[in-house]
Amino acid sequence: MNASAIREILKITQRPDVISFAGGLPAPELFPIEEVRAATNAVLDRAGAAALQYSTTEGHPPLREWIGAQAGIPASNVQIVTGSQQGLDLLGKVLLDEGDTVLVEAPTYLGALQSFQPYLPRYVQLPTDDGGIDVDALEEVLKRERAKLLYAVPNFQNPTGRTLSAERRQRLVELTAQYGVLVIEDDPYGQLRFSGEAAPSLYELGLQLHGDPDRNHVVYSSSFSKTLAPGLRDAWVQAAAPIIAKLIQAKQGSDLHTPTLNQMIMAELVHDVLPRQIERVRRAYGERAQHMLRAMQAHFPAGVEHTTPQGGMFLWLTLPGGVNTEALLPRAVERQVAYVPGRPFYALGGGENTMRLSYSNATPAQIDTGIRALGGLLQEALTA
Ligand SMILES: Cc1ncc(COP(=O)(O)O)c(C=O)c1O
Repeated sequence: MNASAIREILKITQRPDVISFAGGLPAPELFPIEEVRAATNAVLDRAGAAALQYSTTEGHPPLREWIGAQAGIPASNVQIVTGSQQGLDLLGKVLLDEGDTVLVEAPTYLGALQSFQPYLPRYVQLPTDDGGIDVDALEEVLKRERAKLLYAVPNFQNPTGRTLSAERRQRLVELTAQYGVLVIEDDPYGQLRFSGEAAPSLYELGLQLHGDPDRNHVVYSSSFSKTLAPGLRDAWVQAAAPIIAKLIQAKQGSDLHTPTLNQMIMAELVHDVLPRQIERVRRAYGERAQHMLRAMQAHFPAGVEHTTPQGGMFLWLTLPGGVNTEALLPRAVERQVAYVPGRPFYALGGGENTMRLSYSNATPAQIDTGIRALGGLLQEALTA
């Protein structure tokens, strides 16, 4: 295992004088503190000691049932996990053997690579563009490789902010079914759409194709981290019964169960607080994204390409070739602004001239100041 590049960078950027677009942190001022306090009291009043007792590995039944009902599947196809990060680790543990071929987007979520890496897979990168994974290229790869798994973040991807188009979703689900490749659909941001039309999830398309949640070759992973609060570590996996059975076994060896109290609090919050919270977060992130895009328009030199996210927390910059964003980072931090260089998001390298910016955890004033500073630096780097 290698030290996480993002963690190392976050250490520098936690300095209060640095405006950080680096971390993927939700906006803390939107956390529903009073509502969580009230829900905690209600749970402790009602459940008493049971809220502090050990509980089942599968998860708190009312929470599993609520998630299952939202997805139109039985609660038995839902496994509660301690953050979707744990879900990815457990899925790696139960699905991957050394040398198995895993298809990933180029670039992809760094945390998934970290989760899968201990199980020593072999990665194949799938090319992407503004519509997400290039499905023609996927078909070529599927013909050539005996792949075990495809991992994708179809909505407002971390790190690019891109979304897989509806047509490509259909084709991806059909192709992977045809070639017998499992799909992990990682979707922590899907609820945070602030523009455009939602497309069906890969999981839903898989369900339509097979007509049975126990035959779905798509495994779905999501989380309350980005809609409600990451500190509660409440998240879930939807999968066919044989995979759920293995996940239960793996989770028993990992942490027995997700904290009982946190699950009970979430089961209390999902009915009224969560929908209100999703609206608030959507609106705020939509405004911040617009603000960052406008600031980039005003302050960035020509030649810097950016994605235009329809939701989520991130956008992605591509600089003219030759500009190395890792080498540039110390100079950015000197100017009190930080980003994440793109290269670590590529399983097999590449992206030296790319970077990820997050707009979720910065005020409009910070976005203006930070983007102006970054624009000045990019101007210098491009004319040097
Ligand atoms: C694509 C993706 N998957 C999973 C996670 C992990 O989220 P959680 O807080 O649920 O562990 C993140 C967090 O940034 C993410 O961006």
